Amino acid sequence: MIENLEDKILELKSKRNAIILSHYYQSQEIQEMADFIGDSYELSKIAKKNSADVIVLCGVKFMAESAKILSPDKKVILPAINAGCPMADMANANGLKKLKSEHKNAKVVCYINSSVEVKALSDACCTSSNAVKIVKNIDSKDIIFLPDKNLGSYVKEQVPDKNIILWNGFCRVHDMVKPEDIIEVQKLKKNLKVLVHPECSYDVRCLADFIGSTAAMIKYVNKDKDTFEYLIVTETGIMYKMRETNPDKKFYTLNKMICVNMKATKLEDIYFSLKNMTNEINIEENVRKKAFDALNNMLILGR
Ligand code: 13P
Ligand code: SF4
Repeated sequence: MIENLEDKILELKSKRNAIILSHYYQSQEIQEMADFIGDSYELSKIAKKNSADVIVLCGVKFMAESAKILSPDKKVILPAINAGCPMADMANANGLKKLKSEHKNAKVVCYINSSVEVKALSDACCTSSNAVKIVKNIDSKDIIFLPDKNLGSYVKEQVPDKNIILWNGFCRVHDMVKPEDIIEVQKLKKNLKVLVHPECSYDVRCLADFIGSTAAMIKYVNKDKDTFEYLIVTETGIMYKMRETNPDKKFYTLNKMICVNMKATKLEDIYFSLKNMTNEINIEENVRKKAFDALNNMLILGR
C-alpha cells in the first residue's frame, strides 16, 4: 500500500499540469479525486477546451479515445488501460462499410460508445444526452444508428419521421434489466419515481417516470421537489453524486447494475500512470482526423 496516495497524485498532477476527469460510473474514491465529473458528452466538451497538458480520463477506452481525438496535442492517459466497453466492441468498421453500401443514401450516427474506426466512418457521433437532437438535426431522412439498438429504438420513438436503421448492439449491464426487477421494487416502495437510462430495453423504458442520460438523471433529481424516493436504473456509480447533493432523498438501485470496466480504475492506476507517464492513448492521424469530424459534428449539431 502506498502512503498518502491522494497527496502524491495531487503533487504529480500539478507537476504534469494534468487534469483528472471522471465518469459518473467510477467508484467514489475516483470521483472524489477528480477535477471534473460528468457524462460522456460533458467529458468530451471539457476534453476539447481546457488548458491542461495531460488529461487523465477515468472511464473506459472510448472516452479516453474521444478526448485524444478532440485534443490531439495533449497527452491522454487511461489509467485502467484494459477497461473497454463491450458494447463498443459489438460494432466494427467492416460491418459498417457493408451496411453503408446497402443504404447508400443514409447518413451514419454513431454512439460515442464506439471505436475510433467506426467513428471515422460516421457522419456524426452522439451521446445518450443528445442522440435525439443529433438525429433530428442531421440532414438526412435515412440514418444508420449504431451500435446500441436500445438507444436507437428510443431515438426512433422520439423522431418518428426519420427512417432509422438499427445495429444489433447493446450494453449487457442495462439490457439485462427486466421489467420484473422494477415492479418488485415498486411493490415495496409506493411513492417511488423510476429513472431509466435509454440503454435499457423498451419494456423497461415503459416503466420509467423519466428517461435520460446520467447527467440528465442527476439534473432531474436535483430539481424535483415532489419526490423523495427514486429507483435509479443505471450503473450504481451514479448514486455517489446523487446522494452527495441530495442528502434528504433516498436512492435505490439494482445491485446487479455494475459495469466491471467502469470500476476497473483504482487510485494506484492514476498514481503510476502519472508518475511514469504510461497508459497513453495514441491514434493514427488519418483515422483521428476523420473521427474528429464526426465528434465535432456532434458538438455543432448538439448546440
Ligand atoms: P452517458 O452517456 O450517460 O455518459 O452513459 C455512458 C455509458 O456508457 C452508459 O452506459
Ligand atoms: Fe459500456 Fe455498458 Fe459499461 Fe456503459 S455501462 S461503459 S455501455 S458496458
